[in-house]
Amino acid sequence: MPGTFHEELKRFDVSLPLARARTIPSSWYCDPEFDAAERRSVFGETWQLAARSDQLEAPGSFVATSIAGESVLIVRDEGGLLRAFFNVCRHRAACVVTEPEGTARRLRCRYHGWTYDLAGRLLGAPEFEGVADFRRDDNGLVPVAIDRWGQLVFVNFGHRPRALSEVLAPLREKMGTLAGLRFVEQRSYELACNWKVFVDNYLDGGYHVNSVHPSLASVLQYAQYRTECMGLTSLQSSPLRAPTPKHADRSASSVRVGETALYGWAFPNFMVNLYSGAMDTNVVLPLGPDRCRVDIAFYISRPAGPDAGAFAAESVEVGHRIQLEDVGVCEDVQRGLASKSYDTGRYSVRREVAVHHFHQLLAARLRDTNQVAAGADAPSGTAGKKTPLPNSRRGRGAANPQPSRAPRKG
Ligand code: FES
Ligand SMILES: [Fe+2]
Repeated sequence: MPGTFHEELKRFDVSLPLARARTIPSSWYCDPEFDAAERRSVFGETWQLAARSDQLEAPGSFVATSIAGESVLIVRDEGGLLRAFFNVCRHRAACVVTEPEGTARRLRCRYHGWTYDLAGRLLGAPEFEGVADFRRDDNGLVPVAIDRWGQLVFVNFGHRPRALSEVLAPLREKMGTLAGLRFVEQRSYELACNWKVFVDNYLDGGYHVNSVHPSLASVLQYAQYRTECMGLTSLQSSPLRAPTPKHADRSASSVRVGETALYGWAFPNFMVNLYSGAMDTNVVLPLGPDRCRVDIAFYISRPAGPDAGAFAAESVEVGHRIQLEDVGVCEDVQRGLASKSYDTGRYSVRREVAVHHFHQLLAARLRDTNQVAAGADAPSGTAGKKTPLPNSRRGRGAANPQPSRAPRKG
C-alpha cells in the first residue's frame, strides 16, 4: 500500500460532486487492512441477508451461516418467534450449531456439552458446580438483531441498528412486499476479486450491459435506463422490450419479461433483481482482500406446474450465464487494480452515480469508525462528528440534463 491505512482512507474526498470525484484508490481493493476494517465496521454494523423464511417455518428450525467471518444462528423458537444469536458458545467460544440448517429442540455445543434453549438461555453446563459468581442467566447466547422483508430474513451484528424497514423503505416503496415469490434454488460463486468490484459492477447504471451481456441488452431499453440513489439504497430501472432480429442473442427474452426491470441495492452488499414473475437476490461477501463469494437465490411467482418448472429452470440458466459474464470482467478488474499503473479512476456522470454513492457511503462509514474525520489533522471541534454526505437523494438517467463538457482527465 502506498501510504498507511489512515492516509489511504483520507484520499477519497467524500465531498466532491460526481463530475469532479475520483474513485476510491486501488489500495482499498487490495489491502488486508481495508478488508479487516470493512469486516468490523461495514459488515459488522449493517443489515445482512442471512436466510429465507421458508427455511424457518417450524418451531425449532434453524439456519447457521457465516457473514464476513462472523457466525450467526437463526432459530424459530417454540413460541413461533424468529431469533438470531452469535453462534458462539459462552464457555470456550466453540461454534454451537455446526450444521447449516435443520431442526432442534435444544442447542447443544458439541465441545463440552453446554445446552441452550431456542430462546438462547443457558439450560445446562455440565460439571460447573462450585464456580464462583457464575449465573446461568448471565451466560445465554448473545442475541443479534433480526428482521424481515417479505421472506428475506436479515440480521445485524451492530448495537441498536436502525430498523430494517427504515433502511429498505425506498426499495420497498418501488418493489413492494415480494409476496407470492417462491424460492427455486441458490447458487454460489467464488470470484478472484474484492467484494467491492462486484458491487461497483452491479451499480454502473447499465454501462457494461451492451458490451458484456448481449442477451440482457436485447431486452433492456438502454436509452431509458435510470438510476436513483436514496439513503443507504439505490435503484436502477429500465423499461423492457421484445428483442428484434438484429439481436444475435435473444436467450433472455422468455424469462426477463414485464414492463420494467428493477435492480435494487442496499449498502453494502445486498442486491435484488425483479422482473415480472421472477426475482433473484445477490449477496456478495468478502473471503479476503482479493476473493469474494456471491450467493444468488432465484425465485419465481408462477403457480407450481410443468410450465412453472420450465420457466424456473430457464430463469436460473439465464441468471447463471449472466453471472459468468460478470465474473470474467470482475476478475480482470481485480488484476488491473493490483497493477502499479492504476491508482484511481473517474466516474461517468451519465451512468455511474450509484457507484459514486456506494463509495461515499463506504468512505463515510470507514472514516467515522476509524476516527479519520476526528484525526490529528482535523480542525478542532470535529471529533466525533459524522462525515456529511453532500446529497441524500440523487438521480441520473436519460431524463436528467447532463453536463455538455466531458469530465476533466485528472
Ligand atoms: S465451548 Fe461450548 S461447551 Fe465448551
Ligand atoms: Fe453485469
